Amino acid sequence: MRDHFEIRDHDAAGRIGRLEVPRADVTVETPALLPVVNPNVLTVEPERLRTEFGAEMLITNSYIIRSTDRIRDRVLSEGLHDFLDFDGAIMTDSGSFQLAEYGDIDVTTAEILEFQRRIGSDVATPVDVPTPPDVDRDRAERELETTERALADAEAAETGEMLVNAPVQGSKYPDLREAAGRHAAGTDLDVFPVGAMVPLMNAYRYADVVEAVMAAKRGLDPDCPVHLFGAGHPMMLALAVAMGCDLFDSAAYALMARDGRYLTVSGTEHLEEMSYFPCSCPVCADHTPADLREGDDDRAERLLAEHNLHVTFEEIRRIKAAIRDGTLLELVDRRARGHPAMLDGYRALLDHADQLEATDPVSKDAFFYTSHEAARRPEVGRHHDRLAWLETPDDLLLTESKPPSSHDHDAVWRVKPPFGPFPRALSETYPLTAEVPERVDAAAQTAAAEGVRRLVEANPETAITLGHDGWAETALDRVPDRVAVDDLRDLGR
Ligand code: GUN
Ligand code: ZN
Repeated sequence: MRDHFEIRDHDAAGRIGRLEVPRADVTVETPALLPVVNPNVLTVEPERLRTEFGAEMLITNSYIIRSTDRIRDRVLSEGLHDFLDFDGAIMTDSGSFQLAEYGDIDVTTAEILEFQRRIGSDVATPVDVPTPPDVDRDRAERELETTERALADAEAAETGEMLVNAPVQGSKYPDLREAAGRHAAGTDLDVFPVGAMVPLMNAYRYADVVEAVMAAKRGLDPDCPVHLFGAGHPMMLALAVAMGCDLFDSAAYALMARDGRYLTVSGTEHLEEMSYFPCSCPVCADHTPADLREGDDDRAERLLAEHNLHVTFEEIRRIKAAIRDGTLLELVDRRARGHPAMLDGYRALLDHADQLEATDPVSKDAFFYTSHEAARRPEVGRHHDRLAWLETPDDLLLTESKPPSSHDHDAVWRVKPPFGPFPRALSETYPLTAEVPERVDAAAQTAAAEGVRRLVEANPETAITLGHDGWAETALDRVPDRVAVDDLRDLGR
């Protein structure tokens, strides 16, 4: 049992939860976006992050504070919350990112945790090793051992009420990620960031991100709060939440603004090239792109950062609403249309439909079939698994059209792509109430044919006839030979 995290709602592997942060005396609703605050450059004042944007938690870097003479003593004497003027929860990172960038840092886990405790951090981080994606296995294993020693040092440290992160590394090796997840969940640490994702995300390698996170999740316990370190682009948040990530940190809003970039839920645009703002946040409502280009650069950077934060927090709220409604995978599907790399991420997610199925609610708002990827959603596989439980009579007609007025079968069941066969009595139950276009595609037909195959194999004694509405060859190939198959179009029905 994780004492500090409570899950309230589920959709796919995504969830709405509450993370209790005792040292800050606040409870943060997840999914939560933690803006990254550079202690040296406050692009947007932390107090405004809370009041205007709704940030309940932010993240800053204790290693930078410790290494910057100008601010270290002030932060030590005032405490982080007063220094930043922020009364929500504050997570601090440890310098691991600097370790990954520069190869060396001059601090141990024990020292940096003690420093984080002294400056008043609410969630601290040990010195994990963010192993990059494409290294050899020996290095990934060696560095993971170092990370696991850092977690042991963190468990041994005096941390009081402060929560402590247990980062999960393992590079691109799914078995290492899974073992790292299992090891982290076995510690008494509190929050579980999946690390070293930044190089993958910067290269738009979303399928690799999905494989690493899904592997880590297999090792972690379902009730572990999971942070996706370095993820904050609004385009990928729905995908990340659907995998079961709860916390995100965005430096993107500020870094991108510095380069004149404007974030949207389907990608990144350049202020230089924009004629219109497709957004109604306070910045976009009051300004045009030309306006921002003409003013001074600092003003443009600040306003872009504010827009970037508005779209990112808006997306977090949209994701929470989708979880409540049970439409999270439909949102992921829409976001997957923004960039081919996002589509790869979504397809990789659907390769793990079984893993999503474990927490996917059995009933929600109507399933919308709006892309052929939807044929691989967890609800379809779950229906196929359940077909084996259904009683069948000796002679069964499965038909995609209305039951014929006269026939000599013992029963007539409906067939509905992408699910396949089911008794009429189940017509009004989720997901069989699905809205499916009239022009069904081959992927839906093939998934339905798979349902037929599963039913046939579970009932070797039953004589089965299938009436289909012009199914593609690829779908019909999947129907076992012993099924009598009629094309309803040829029969004029
Ligand atoms: N920030 C982005 N990635 C990482 C990571 O892997 N570890 C830590 N500690 N911070 C990060
Ligand atoms: Zn805007």
